[in-house]
Amino acid sequence: MKNKIIAGNWKMNKTRAEAESLIRELVPLVAHTPNTVVICVPFTDIYTAVELTRGTNIHVGAQNCHWKESGAYTGEIAPSMLVEAGVEYVVIGHSERRTYFGETDATVLARTKAALAAGLKPIVCIGETLAERQDGRMEEVLTRQVTEGFRDISAEELKHITVAYEPVWAIGTGVTATDEQANDAIRYVRGIFAAKYGKEAADRLYIQYGGSMNDGNAKGLLAMSDVDGGLIGGASLVASKFAAIVHAHE
Ligand code: 13P
Repeated sequence: MKNKIIAGNWKMNKTRAEAESLIRELVPLVAHTPNTVVICVPFTDIYTAVELTRGTNIHVGAQNCHWKESGAYTGEIAPSMLVEAGVEYVVIGHSERRTYFGETDATVLARTKAALAAGLKPIVCIGETLAERQDGRMEEVLTRQVTEGFRDISAEELKHITVAYEPVWAIGTGVTATDEQANDAIRYVRGIFAAKYGKEAADRLYIQYGGSMNDGNAKGLLAMSDVDGGLIGGASLVASKFAAIVHAHE
């Protein structure tokens, strides 16, 4: 059986000082778990996070990276900069970036390729909006996001990628997908990967659920057969809540 990958996405939260106290509290709370623990922090918290998690079981991630190694891209961060800082994971294509910052399947693919080339482990986010689900277009949207967003990702590259299924209607809303809704959507996504990369590769692929996951609903969600972990926003900002999710399925 796979362990779970439990990743916190802090989004635009926590100053350096706040990050320090959260991580100091978190380290002992998650020290003994078979699950993989990741915290995806703002760029300005990376050095602090890497320093304070050295020698622990917590892995550090960023929340975006650019597709070029350097150049005139004001406000962007290159994959090699993250690697040098000690970052292992990077969230790519989060729905907030797709909605507010013009991220498309093509830019998601470009960022993912660059992250992989630098040796980072991308956590690639996909998911449908409420309108798309209500219109019966969930499967079409997920198929497009995987087909376009993974267009020239090789089978070898896929081994280093985690996928996060995050229905947009469940993010930050307090409305969580039911255990069955999450599992059904993830099973559908896994089928898309199986068609392209084969069943074994698709079964090996980690696909997380994200969207209002918390210490109350994590146990049920993580017990589902296809849910390989969680990408947690709000609840990852409180050490005890995030730790409870880490330990919810062991
Ligand atoms: P919430 O857990 O706050 O709903 O956020 C989910 C998310 O977007 C994680 O990337």
